[in-house]
Amino acid sequence: MKRYLILSFLAAVTMMAANHVTAQDRDVIAGIPVNYDESKTGDYKATLPDPLTMLDGTKVTTAKQWEKKRRPEIVKLFEENQYGKWPAKKPKLRYKVEQDLGFDGTAVRKQATIYFSPDDNGPQVDVLIYLPKDANGPVPLLLNVSFMANNITVSDPGVKAGFNWNPQTKAKMTAESRPGAPRGFGMDATIKKFLNEGFGFATLHYTDIDPDFLGGATLGVRSLYLKPGAEEPAADEWGSISAWAWGISTVVDYFEKDPDIDAKRIAITGASRLGKTVMWTGARDQRIAVVLASCSGEGGAAISRRYFGETVAHLTEKTRFPYQFAANYGKYGDDVTKLPVDAHMLVSLIAPRPCLLQTGTTDNWSDPKGEFYSAVEAGKVYRLLGKDDLGTTELPAPDQPIYHTLGYFMHEGGHGNLPIDWEIFLEYCKRYL
Ligand code: GCU
Repeated sequence: MKRYLILSFLAAVTMMAANHVTAQDRDVIAGIPVNYDESKTGDYKATLPDPLTMLDGTKVTTAKQWEKKRRPEIVKLFEENQYGKWPAKKPKLRYKVEQDLGFDGTAVRKQATIYFSPDDNGPQVDVLIYLPKDANGPVPLLLNVSFMANNITVSDPGVKAGFNWNPQTKAKMTAESRPGAPRGFGMDATIKKFLNEGFGFATLHYTDIDPDFLGGATLGVRSLYLKPGAEEPAADEWGSISAWAWGISTVVDYFEKDPDIDAKRIAITGASRLGKTVMWTGARDQRIAVVLASCSGEGGAAISRRYFGETVAHLTEKTRFPYQFAANYGKYGDDVTKLPVDAHMLVSLIAPRPCLLQTGTTDNWSDPKGEFYSAVEAGKVYRLLGKDDLGTTELPAPDQPIYHTLGYFMHEGGHGNLPIDWEIFLEYCKRYL
């Protein structure tokens, strides 16, 4: 147990270091002031769009109206103004699957590669899948969208080495753990816990799908759809978050073909930009049964109209992460009240499916309260669809999970996943997957 805690802690720290969370608690980021004063957050409610009022003013009062009219309307608004549209048609996917045993022979291990083009060296994603050895039918599964290549996520020998992009040279480098560093990202013990409860656990490295830097559109899956001569998608087309989400959706296509996986019971999880990614994936792909979003913050579950921590202006500033979104998103940096959507509508798109927002008490940059209020505001959509909302409008104390269909958990601590979060995710999957 102690070793597991240490490794998971190292994992969390590595992830925090790797992901620019140094931004936290500085007054000015990229020349733009940051507010951490609760008295200056403004009245977000005054301009928040109502998820249950159509653009033409019609009130949504039935589940059918939501599903047929309002939901597609909101999806379109997010596509055009925030994440960008992904291609209407998937390419012909090819799969290569190798199966053996992992974790010292205690689990079924599959290594599936999904090829997005006929070229063996073209964009492809490696999915590492563990299944309980004693399963006597298809199993529900948690897909972890990771910052690490699969051979770094686990310390299981025999896992194919993945790669990392070098943003300067735009070349791929084999992902190797540094000499002397603890091998593995510390996920082994967590994965085994899921297997012991009868769940499968899969993990993939997000930049297999599309790189995570400006100018990456010519290298990953988006390159397959660029207009001749273009280096960037159009202003309403997919940024990298949408590309990662689309890639995850193709992994679900694979799960549907794998007889050992119950593709109707797939949960997805990711942290930070990957928290935003799993929210958008769950919103777009209704086959996903459960969403566990960690510290997704601005551009994810945190209300943008609440002026606290990161803002759309910070996110889309040219030296930061504009490429992760549709180029159109940058237009709202100056006046976020013009954005026709907000984070509570993203949460609403996951309704009536279970969604757990995980945050951290000191992760101010991501605005944990803004995420809570967004879930409060999305509650009316869950209620309309006959599911339970948060059940409260008061921010819960740290380390007190709300295990409702629309759930919330704020650990005591900062950005990313802590060991306790994985315990909560497992419990949530036991209840809802
Ligand atoms: C930055 C960014 C966040 C993002 C985070 C991450 O801090 O400002 O919006 O969530 O990186 O992905 O780690």
